[in-house]
Amino acid sequence: MVVAVVATSVFLVEIVQGNEVAVVHIPVRGELQARLGPSVKALPEYGPSIMDASVYRDPTRFELERERVLGRHWMIAGRSEQVQGSGDWITYEGHDECIVVVRQAEGSLSAFHNVCRHRGPAIIAEKTGCGARRFSCPYHGWVYDTKGKLVGIPEREDFGNEHVTDIGAIPVAVGEWGGWVWINLAGPDKAVPLLESIGPDISNDLGAFKMEDMILHEVLEWDVPINYKAIVDGFNEIYHVTELHHSPPEFTKATRFASFHVTGDNFMCFVPRPVSLEELGSESYDHHRNSICHYVVFPNTVFNCNPEHLQVFQPIPLGVDRTKFLCWELIYPGDINDPEYASYYKKTMAHWEVLKGVVGEDIGIYDQMTRTKKSSAFNEQILSEREFKIAMYHENMDRKIRD
Ligand code: FES
Ligand SMILES: [Fe+2]
Repeated sequence: MVVAVVATSVFLVEIVQGNEVAVVHIPVRGELQARLGPSVKALPEYGPSIMDASVYRDPTRFELERERVLGRHWMIAGRSEQVQGSGDWITYEGHDECIVVVRQAEGSLSAFHNVCRHRGPAIIAEKTGCGARRFSCPYHGWVYDTKGKLVGIPEREDFGNEHVTDIGAIPVAVGEWGGWVWINLAGPDKAVPLLESIGPDISNDLGAFKMEDMILHEVLEWDVPINYKAIVDGFNEIYHVTELHHSPPEFTKATRFASFHVTGDNFMCFVPRPVSLEELGSESYDHHRNSICHYVVFPNTVFNCNPEHLQVFQPIPLGVDRTKFLCWELIYPGDINDPEYASYYKKTMAHWEVLKGVVGEDIGIYDQMTRTKKSSAFNEQILSEREFKIAMYHENMDRKIRD
């Protein structure tokens, strides 16, 4: 699912006349590599394929994915702006893991499993909070500092000293990029560096949007009774926009000029806006200004960028066939009393309303997939060459759970 659709909702951010100062950041390609245009190969030589459908419903496989993929790769836990002050915290829950991320006094973040070392319940009951200095387990009162270190035990003399000395909640790797808080359950010593995992292609190209300067406008959440990978699949092709999203013929035509890129574990896709098709013959085509820029960071983070605002789609696995599906809407900040910004805001909100309808259509297809997810007739998928990202994503997943 590349969310973009209607040409009539396309607009350009207005520039303050006279001094050329934009009221909001305008992403531009600048010196970055061309991603659409005459010298860009639009489609890798992968070809059509067939894939096994059991990957969506095999519980044994899901356990392997929990251990070797979800437990070893970087995933989003929230926005940096949600943990601004010292002791502010957010929690992440998915694939039977329970994590807390806390802002430290010196500005860094710490993350650890929200699991008491005594007998195992969650230490922190609330999903988010502010200004914590200590966390106290509600069962017997063991006390943890904001880095997860165990710093207090009632009636400590009754425990084996060697059992409770220098221990704490199990640490999780945490990083920030693009204004997002990322976590990796492999832990601080074993996690691949975050930027290495995102890779330079995506960190530079997506970096042009300056997500760190954007603000969270809204988060939508759905509980979807299908496997998370089936949701990721919907973002790894644009074939469905004509039928499911009723995109107008000019948009369907534009999708035929889209380019698809593989970069490490991740993908990029650029769909030209219909009004920019004539410019596609130019080497200087600016994909940031004139296309929908789309990035998939393995295993489950999807960025859908219009020049004016963007959506992050995050299917968080809850079980082999149940997913918490989040959609984060980011916009550029500004003074709503400034007429230029008010105009930007009004147009962006109008487009966001359109996109919410588009996401609703995707949710509708998940209902159809729910009905057939265990059907004896659903054993394989027939993929076109332009759906190759789906095939590659699942091949990558296969490799990871074998390693
Ligand atoms: S289980 Fe947490 S203090 Fe006992
Ligand atoms: Fe879609």
